[in-house]
Amino acid sequence: MRRPMIAGNWKMNKTPAETKALIEDLKAIENRSGAEVVVCPMTVSLFAAAEALKGSEIKLGAQNVHFADKGAYTGECNAASLKELGVEYVIIGHSERRQYFGETDLTVNQRTLKALEAGLKPIVCVGESLEQKQQGITNEIVCLQTKVALLGVTAEQLKDLVIAYEPVWAIGTGLTATPEDANNTIRAIRGAVEEVFGAEAAQSLRILYGGSMNDKNAHDLMAQSDVDGGLIGGASLVAEKFAGVINFN
Ligand code: PGA
Repeated sequence: MRRPMIAGNWKMNKTPAETKALIEDLKAIENRSGAEVVVCPMTVSLFAAAEALKGSEIKLGAQNVHFADKGAYTGECNAASLKELGVEYVIIGHSERRQYFGETDLTVNQRTLKALEAGLKPIVCVGESLEQKQQGITNEIVCLQTKVALLGVTAEQLKDLVIAYEPVWAIGTGLTATPEDANNTIRAIRGAVEEVFGAEAAQSLRILYGGSMNDKNAHDLMAQSDVDGGLIGGASLVAEKFAGVINFN
């Protein structure tokens, strides 16, 4: 059985003080679905988040990690520092990183390998653009992104990894993939993983949906056979809405 995961991607929102306040609100939420809940604040807010989360079941995630151990990489953040702060998960290859910051399938792979080596659990994002969807090549794109991201990952490491399928046209737009479309694409991704790692590993892997998922549509998306959770942007910034997603059932 795959335990559902609901992860909040706070993107470039919430100062350290605001992070602390939102976490206090989230700690008061009753988790009736049993989902694993993760919050991913800005790097500069991770310390405040780690302090606020002490004693809570909510896990801490970062939004990126560099592929070098340390060195001359101005503005980047290494895995050792994230580990030291108590970070457990790290989002890698989000489409905003790909779109605005030159992230490629290759760097996604490098970051994924470094995260795993350091004991961080990657949430690897894949997803097609609107153009690619219109061309009917969604499955080809996401399967290729997945296979490249996982190059060199061992079967043992795969157990710590999560994939998030996030159609680029659905992120922050209010447009959501239909539950059936999300499920079909996620099944294709699972198939690509099966080709490389075998059926058992593919069946154990959690694959999330992301892209305008909220308290209103979470139930229908989560009812799908292969949707194992959500990576939530906008709706994770408001405690009541995130509560609705956490309690999707
Ligand atoms: P959204 O963002 O929920 O605001 O669409 C999702 C994401 O980018 O992870």
